[in-house]
Amino acid sequence: MRKTIIANWKMHYGPVKAGAWIRAFRRERLPKNIDIGVAVPFVSLAAARSSLGRAGVPNLGAQDTFWANEGAFTGEIGPAMLKEFALSFCLVGHSERRQYLGETDEMVAKKAIALQKSGIRPVICVGETEAQRKKGETLKVVRAQLAAVIAEGLKIDGPASPIIAYEPVWAIGTGKACSGQEAMVVHEAIHDALVKKFGKEASEIPVIYGGSVDPRNVAEYLSTTHIDGVLIGSASLDPRAFGVLCRAALPA
Ligand code: 13P
Repeated sequence: MRKTIIANWKMHYGPVKAGAWIRAFRRERLPKNIDIGVAVPFVSLAAARSSLGRAGVPNLGAQDTFWANEGAFTGEIGPAMLKEFALSFCLVGHSERRQYLGETDEMVAKKAIALQKSGIRPVICVGETEAQRKKGETLKVVRAQLAAVIAEGLKIDGPASPIIAYEPVWAIGTGKACSGQEAMVVHEAIHDALVKKFGKEASEIPVIYGGSVDPRNVAEYLSTTHIDGVLIGSASLDPRAFGVLCRAALPA
């Protein structure tokens, strides 16, 4: 399976800085055998799209969506609006949204399904907190987060087929990266749960890892079985450093 690298700027870069990032990143030499994407704040999608011009890389994505396409939902942005930017993907259920905005598994599931209906690939984020890991509940928590989306009718084929992102909350922005081996156990459980539900085609659903990935440790993740890509927060904020990370991802 081709590997995937997705940058998540989180709440950084309005339109001016987003445009500058994209223009700088376009000058980076990038590996051709990896799918590279960047998840941009809503307000910067137009600037990112126009700075990208005809360049096909990186793929553009959003960081969240609402589950309806339009209506009386003040402040929300739905998949049909996102589609106007020709996005390839959209994150849903990032742990920061679960933690600070009270997003539940049910909300995340509705968002993922709504994206698929609009032809946008959902990148569904799951992961346990430090307290849950200490109690030995990692697999139980991750399986429950996944089960909610499956129950809503997730589709696994077609252009809007999902990506699952395993991001242990304790490893995000802390420098305490989960080792490749520790992550592998969870990725394998995710692959198994998907194959059990959908059959063996589901082994083609990428399961990517996020949490303190940087240019030094990226190759370890991408060389570990069951890890199909990485989701990068802080190490993606500088376009040149992110270019270095992309080049370091797969040994030549
Ligand atoms: P960091 O790479 O800053 O740990 O963030 C990971 C993340 O949350 C990506 O979505």
